Amino acid sequence: QLQTKHSHRRQKVLVVANRLPTKPKRDADGNWTFERCSGGLVSCLAGIRAKFDMVWLGWPGADFNDVEKDIVANEAMKQGCYPVFLRQNLIDEYYNGFANNVLWPLFHYIMPPFDKGVNECSTGQWEAYRKANEIFTEAILSVYEDDDYVWIHDYHLMLVPKFLREAKPDCNIGWFLHTPFPSAEIYRTLPWRQEIIESLLHANLLGFHVYDYLRHFLSSCVQLTSLEISAHSVDATSIGGCIVTCATVPIGISPDEFLTGLQKPEVKQQIEQLHEQYAGRKVILGIDRLDYMKGIPHKLMSFGRFLENHPDWADKCVLVQLAVPSRRDVPEYQRLQRQVHELVGDSAEVRRQISGKHSSIATGVPVIYMDSSMSPDDLSALYNVADVALITSLRDGMNLVSYEYIACQHGKTVPGVLILSEFAGAAQSLGAGSIRVNPWHLQDTAHAIYEALMMGSEEREALHDYAFKYVSEHTAQKWAETFLQCLQEACSDLMEVTSQ
Ligand code: G6P
Repeated sequence: QLQTKHSHRRQKVLVVANRLPTKPKRDADGNWTFERCSGGLVSCLAGIRAKFDMVWLGWPGADFNDVEKDIVANEAMKQGCYPVFLRQNLIDEYYNGFANNVLWPLFHYIMPPFDKGVNECSTGQWEAYRKANEIFTEAILSVYEDDDYVWIHDYHLMLVPKFLREAKPDCNIGWFLHTPFPSAEIYRTLPWRQEIIESLLHANLLGFHVYDYLRHFLSSCVQLTSLEISAHSVDATSIGGCIVTCATVPIGISPDEFLTGLQKPEVKQQIEQLHEQYAGRKVILGIDRLDYMKGIPHKLMSFGRFLENHPDWADKCVLVQLAVPSRRDVPEYQRLQRQVHELVGDSAEVRRQISGKHSSIATGVPVIYMDSSMSPDDLSALYNVADVALITSLRDGMNLVSYEYIACQHGKTVPGVLILSEFAGAAQSLGAGSIRVNPWHLQDTAHAIYEALMMGSEEREALHDYAFKYVSEHTAQKWAETFLQCLQEACSDLMEVTSQ
């Protein structure tokens, strides 16, 4: 439990993320549903809500009129949430624009096309980003009480630390980045690099998944500021910030949720059905948000290469690819969907390359592609029956799908094999429990698929045991507790410095 300076009340943790964990929707008959959102952060924090007094502030996912806002706010409050409402034009410019069309690609090492400089097209979006960050700060201030801990998440809200520090100089502020922090050589191209980095330096603690991201952040500080910087901290007192602690706190999952789910009769039945459906064929599984940095086209092409190299496998395996639709209003995501659809079968040429060429009447096409989300139970069943999981992210902050796959393989006589991109943060934790690939090297991945399918049971077990041990020790709960512990320490260090 977090200690409070004022003993009369239990301290709150204000979790501030772009998205609320619940998604309000109204059907044609006017009935409301409040579904739990998918995504790593939601599952990670769901498990710790019982332990901490927590209020979650975030955007409810759509623009609502005044009557709807009351309904949404009432329901959200019952779930310990505080909605931050944004108008449609701000959603377009801040969320679809600056956050997901400028920061997201850049933080994943994708530079703007040279015929469309980011500077030129994004000034309005930057203003909207500032505005949205101000709105989030106002929302925090309306629920904040002295000594609360404010835990800000991700690239959407990087200006909040400074706005908040200016309003509440003693506030306990932590920020965690769920994406990579890119090399300083990439970060420095951002026209608003200075404002963003200086704002972050108004937090007490900055957390990253892996040491490389922390290192890149500190290199950017060295190049862009004249502050005193050590291996794990930055002295930002001269710019109105504090002595900022920087820490590596890798996220995890709640493996027990999956293990318990697998025991449900309906999940067991679903597993049996899937075994029947794919009888005689090995299942290679891909589960990703439909995002260009997940490398889905690279995966499909590598699978095509594998079948070309080993045509005898064409009717003995199937690639099941689930692509969960995401950020549909951003043009790059629409383009990706068209590209993937073509690769999977709409285009005669690629059908020949991947599906048509290797399909047989008896078994059908070797790629089963679904553009949809799935219930946690169905997902667990699919993870369980898969003989191989294929993760080919071109860049990924962590990638918890790989953790979920490992959890759901547990207890099988012959566990499945994880093929994992070396560009995912998870490669640093599960690397020794997987076959690591460079997803840009299609032959390399094609070979890894073959290696995984042919791997003997002893080696599979050794890889799985290593990965499962890591996944079960580094849980979501541990991540959240460690972050909050570090935040508390960072804030008490500050008190010591200022009271001297
Ligand atoms: C990534 C981001 C999260 C985000 C999630 C889903 O994991 O780091 O902050 O919530 O993608 O994306 P969305 O845009 O739908 O919230």
